[in-house]
Amino acid sequence: MDCSITVIPGDGIGPEVIGEALKALKFIGKKYGHRFEFTEALAGGRAIDETGLPLPPETLETAKKSGAVLLGAMGGPRWDGLPGHLRPERGLLGLRSGLGVFANLRPAALLPQLRAACPLKDEVLAAANPEGKPAFDLLIVRELTGGIYFGERGRSADGNSAFDIEKYSRHEIERVLRVAYGAAAARRKKLCLVDKANVLESSRLWREVAAGVEKDYPDIETSCLYVDNCAMQLVRAPGLFDVIVTSNMFGDILSDEASVLTGSIGMLPSASLAGVPGRGNGAGGRPLGIYEPIHGSAPDIAGRDIANPLAAILSAAMMLRYSFGLETEAAALETAVGAALDRGLRTGDIAGHGAGSGGIAAGAEKIAGTREMGEAVLKALE
Ligand code: IPM
Ligand code: MN
Repeated sequence: MDCSITVIPGDGIGPEVIGEALKALKFIGKKYGHRFEFTEALAGGRAIDETGLPLPPETLETAKKSGAVLLGAMGGPRWDGLPGHLRPERGLLGLRSGLGVFANLRPAALLPQLRAACPLKDEVLAAANPEGKPAFDLLIVRELTGGIYFGERGRSADGNSAFDIEKYSRHEIERVLRVAYGAAAARRKKLCLVDKANVLESSRLWREVAAGVEKDYPDIETSCLYVDNCAMQLVRAPGLFDVIVTSNMFGDILSDEASVLTGSIGMLPSASLAGVPGRGNGAGGRPLGIYEPIHGSAPDIAGRDIANPLAAILSAAMMLRYSFGLETEAAALETAVGAALDRGLRTGDIAGHGAGSGGIAAGAEKIAGTREMGEAVLKALE
């Protein structure tokens, strides 16, 4: 199969972790006989340095023509002083809205190998878990191109007040709900709508739309939770959750919280899709997607070969699955990540949480750099 991929390494640790993901993809291409065509493009801080703009128009053009975008991270203190519309993050937001990727899938599951890196107690992890095991496996579906991130914003003439508007249309709510229901149908068939409907009118519209969409999925158990309560339940009984669907801002916050429960934000991949998986405008009728680790550019550790490349590699796996329909290859990549962890290899963010747990014998945990971890994944793919 021919797969055209726009690669945006971005800033900070972005180029390092994407470098490892690309090696894994090239290996998969050779092994399974696919032709991956990579086109590198600029966005974020590096784009500002080289072109003066966080999202050069040619980057959006290139991305639109390809089947998927693989992205590292954007931003850094160097560009913090710039006005809002010229910040590196504008590049990311512009890319998301320019490609119309309204549904952001952020899976967060506790791998048995990383049990010791999860800050929760066994009894908390076992609570509400059907199998009573200390584990959880949830998916946050975050609306990505609407709400307060893209609403009107501004300041009063005297500069003494400011506003950002949270606005959603029925259409925007319904399409992301349908992606979430579709995901729940393929999982444990539970969907939780997270909002602040006791205060926000926009949340009340989400509930109204959900009440209609719910009827099309009679085998899915639907519930609603206020976001403050959800933040609490995530650390009280993460086993409660299967699919969480929520607005742009709430999804941003809850996914960082969920990531820590998996051991490290360095483990979490994401897929941002322009349609329901299986339909849409991407390669082979699949939706166009942006695939990126949810961690940021981590400028403090950039260029030191210590960043965790696994979230980027797992994002590449999501790309194979959702944009190219290569399920076997995606699963092989995920299994290889598990195998590297089985060998006791740990980047700094997931290391040192007590030897002897997670199936790793005392003293067998081995600190690995970015490249070494990437190599271990390649080895496991052989
Ligand atoms: C994320 C990030 C971005 C967001 C930032 C960098 C704009 O935090 O992808 O979660 O808020 O969406
Ligand atoms: Mn975030």
